Amino acid sequence: MTLQTDADGRLRHLLTLERLPRDALVALLDRAQAFADGVDARDALAGTAVCTLFFEPSTRTRLSFQRAAQRLGADVLSFDAATSSTTKGETARDTLKNIEAMGVRGFIVRHSADGAVAALAEEAAAGTALVNAGDGRSAHPTQGLLDMLTLRQALGDDFSRRRFAIVGDVKHSRVARSDLHALRTLGAGEIRVCGPASLLPDDGTLAGCHVTVDLDAALDGVDVVMMLRLQRERMEEGLVSSLEDYHRDYGLTEARLRRAAKRAVVLHPGPMNRGVEITDAVADGPQSLILRQVANGVAVRMAVLEALLR
Ligand code: CP
Repeated sequence: MTLQTDADGRLRHLLTLERLPRDALVALLDRAQAFADGVDARDALAGTAVCTLFFEPSTRTRLSFQRAAQRLGADVLSFDAATSSTTKGETARDTLKNIEAMGVRGFIVRHSADGAVAALAEEAAAGTALVNAGDGRSAHPTQGLLDMLTLRQALGDDFSRRRFAIVGDVKHSRVARSDLHALRTLGAGEIRVCGPASLLPDDGTLAGCHVTVDLDAALDGVDVVMMLRLQRERMEEGLVSSLEDYHRDYGLTEARLRRAAKRAVVLHPGPMNRGVEITDAVADGPQSLILRQVANGVAVRMAVLEALLR
């Protein structure tokens, strides 16, 4: 039994993809694929209330969770930190406990602090489920799942002969950490990680990866390019000399993408800094799966909510 799973190994909360067993991860992806294919579950969570509890901004994650919950028949409450009593000093814990007292059973939580969602899960009543919708730099498990679903659709189930490049601001990226856990669990053949030295973590996150500061080398022959957002809001001064320099050295352009395998696909979790880490031509081009990722986000979040709350 862990905070995330009960004594029978069933998911109680979804906090991280780290050490999530392969069977559990694949089951979520299979169910998400069924939802993507149009399986109807409109009554699955009828009578169940869920709340999107976001202490940080979001477009894709919050709205796709709301869409997913609606498609499962749940009642959906949306908490907006800016207009909430947190502005009067109420804590995240008290906020959770008060909304829980209203009969809400599912919380989709985003917070700027590493570990904040797990800390709230410790406080939740039995029968209340939390989903980590992104905490600090630590984890964004449903983004990792939707990225894997998108890659399975593009490449098939067997990742063992595939080469993956994760490029950009890895240091500040919870998406990169969740993708790395999932890619390892699914047996990715080769994982390359590339970014400026100042934006590469040195905390063991990149164990087993081929790490380089040379983008051209990182792209050579890869099947998948996973671009990351430059997270200026989390960045200390001076980690990047200028956006122009960053684009020159780490921006994905059509010319650079030609170094990858001919049918290579490009992912980006959004929001994109167009013209910084990725050009319009690549983001909107034929190899981009970026809007496919967004569509898959609804299906993945349906699978997660169903697994936790049904
Ligand atoms: N990918 C992602 O988490 O986007 P949002 O911040 O818009 O939710």
